[in-house]
Amino acid sequence: MTPYKISPSILTADFANLGRDIFLVETYGASYIHVDVMDGVFVPNITIGPLVVSALKKMTSLAIDVHLMIEKPERYINDFISAGANVLTLHVEACTHLHRAIEKIKSLNCKAGVALNPSTPASTIEEILPFIDLILVMSVNPGFGGQSFIKQSLRKISQIKEMITQQGLSECELEVDGGINANNIKSIFEAGANVFVAGSAIFNQSYSIEESMKKLKQALET
Ligand code: DX5
Ligand code: ZN
Repeated sequence: MTPYKISPSILTADFANLGRDIFLVETYGASYIHVDVMDGVFVPNITIGPLVVSALKKMTSLAIDVHLMIEKPERYINDFISAGANVLTLHVEACTHLHRAIEKIKSLNCKAGVALNPSTPASTIEEILPFIDLILVMSVNPGFGGQSFIKQSLRKISQIKEMITQQGLSECELEVDGGINANNIKSIFEAGANVFVAGSAIFNQSYSIEESMKKLKQALET
């Protein structure tokens, strides 16, 4: 098994041909399908809800990695898990009673993740770390695909990797989301991440999804 996972973000996929795009990333080695849920309040954009997760579930056997960029995400835990989410990630900035929400997600047999905006320090997750399955470090300000990777995120990724190691949480995944491409993915891996979300580097290129997936994997393996 590879030491990394690629989680293509469907935000930049072709929504009129979502089944085809999902099939292609699955064929060329994706581990998860990343679904960006935005409410127009927590972030200045509106995307999709549980209905699309249900539809995706019928198209793929990959785990569905749902990233909730919504205020008070605890209101929608049941809906997204019923729709088929396998990993449900909430923002630390959007959820007051994070521990309660995480426990609820786990009680419904779903993996629980916590996401951090670029300006949120690593220390905010110190207490919740032993309770979660995944940490998502945002390396752009959430809301849109196609932004540039914020280089300072590498320091935070290393800090969080250190916290995971120190607490002996070897099962906890460290995911990075935003601006990842074949030129920077290796440095993000070296900083300690093992799950890589990529949208425009996979779906919005002048070359094919097959080539884009291969370029990311080659960059990680060289
Ligand atoms: C941004 C989303 C990301 C985004 C990644 O708010 O959380 O998942 O779609 O897209 P790229 O790879 O284009 O930065
Ligand atoms: Zn995302």
